[in-house]
Amino acid sequence: MSPCRIAMIGVTFGFLAAVASAHAGPGAEPEARAGDGRELFVARCSSCHSLDYMDMHARFGTRALWEAEVAKMRNAYKAPLSDDEAKAIVEYLARAYGPASPAASVSR
Ligand code: HEC
Repeated sequence: MSPCRIAMIGVTFGFLAAVASAHAGPGAEPEARAGDGRELFVARCSSCHSLDYMDMHARFGTRALWEAEVAKMRNAYKAPLSDDEAKAIVEYLARAYGPASPAASVSR
C-alpha cells in the first residue's frame, strides 16, 4: 500500500470520527443510550443520503414523525429494512433525534 493511500485512509477515518462526535453533542447521549440501534441506523439510513437529514427533522422528531419517515423510506424509496429493523430505528430516532434530544437544542 502506498504512503499516499494510507494517508487517505487516515483522513477518511478522522472525518468520520468528527462527524460522529458532532452528532453525539454534549453528553454523548445517542451512543450511550442507543447501543446497537445507532449502528443499525447508520448502516441502513446513510446509504442514499446524508445523516444531516435527521438533524434537520430533530426539532419536530416525535415518534409519529419518525414512524412516518421510516415507513416512507421503505415504501417510497425501497430502503431495505426488515420490520424489526424499522422498529429499532424508529426507537433510536425518537430517542436520539426527538424534540428533547441534545442535538435539537443546539442553536444554529
Ligand atoms: C434507498 C435509498 C434510501 C434509504 C436507504 C434511506 N432513504 Fe431517506 N430519503 C431517500 C430519498 C430519495 C429522499 C428524498 C429525496 C431527497 O430529499 O434527497 C429521502 C429523504 C429523507 C428524509 C428527509 C425528509 C423526507 O421525507 O424527504 C429523511 C428524514 C430521511 N430520508 C430519513 C431516512 C431514514 C431514517 C432512513 C433509514 C431508515 C433512510 N432515510 C434511508 C432515500 C433513502
